[in-house]
Amino acid sequence: MECKFTARSAIGVFDSGLGGLTVVKELKRHLPFEKIVYFGDTARVPYGTKSKEAIIRFSIENTQILLKHNVKIVVVACNSSASYALKKLRASFSVPCVGVIGPGARKAVNTTRSGRIGVIATSATTASGAYPRVICGLNPQVKVFSQACPLFVPLVEEGWFNHNVTEEIIEHYLKPLKKEKIDTLILGCTHYPLLQKVIQKVVGNNVILIDSAKETAQTVGAVLAQYELLRKTKLQPKHQFFVSDKQQHFNEIAEKFLGCEIQSSIVKL
Ligand code: DGL
Repeated sequence: MECKFTARSAIGVFDSGLGGLTVVKELKRHLPFEKIVYFGDTARVPYGTKSKEAIIRFSIENTQILLKHNVKIVVVACNSSASYALKKLRASFSVPCVGVIGPGARKAVNTTRSGRIGVIATSATTASGAYPRVICGLNPQVKVFSQACPLFVPLVEEGWFNHNVTEEIIEHYLKPLKKEKIDTLILGCTHYPLLQKVIQKVVGNNVILIDSAKETAQTVGAVLAQYELLRKTKLQPKHQFFVSDKQQHFNEIAEKFLGCEIQSSIVKL
């Protein structure tokens, strides 16, 4: 599918649900005059427990949904999708596609002092080996310790950011990583920054958390500049949000997180 985009077109962002909003928040901060079209696949969340084939298929469909809005770039704000589908998306569509893994991995490699980096992510992202691969390509001396945390996404989708149960679950998953004496921890799922406070409390202040959202927003700015696709007008953009299910629930959590009114529309899959 081809689409006609110009500098005035929007930035397209997709995730399996709410997690990509952490990238939206940073895009709004870094590129305040760019319009964003967001799609959260709330009917099919979580992706992190699905097969590679399913994740690739969903990612293609999500990109097609965004392209109907003539977006000028697609931000794959989902590590599970970026792990398995980014290559396929780049080969299938002419619009530039940016993932979240490269930017987060680069930041972590530049941050670590001990050369011991932890990665927490969904089961799919962990099984793909995407982070160790990219990190090793950047610096083969660095040791990477990965931990899948499959219960984190449902906690976030439920809005349980500070619940006692949340802290207990985080403690459980992070125990093996704490033993490895990591000094840097990549939040390798875009849902996880919503649990950042509790994760930091559990790992302690000596471990630096890497939220790839900030780095991704900078990469998006650089790619748009490279293709001369940055908006020239300095007008307040009106963002659009789409979900595939549970619109009201999405609006409530998104409003709390982004601090503005959200009225999402339903996309029928
Ligand atoms: N937020 C996504 C990620 O970064 C998806 C998590 C999920 O749906 O399991 O992997």
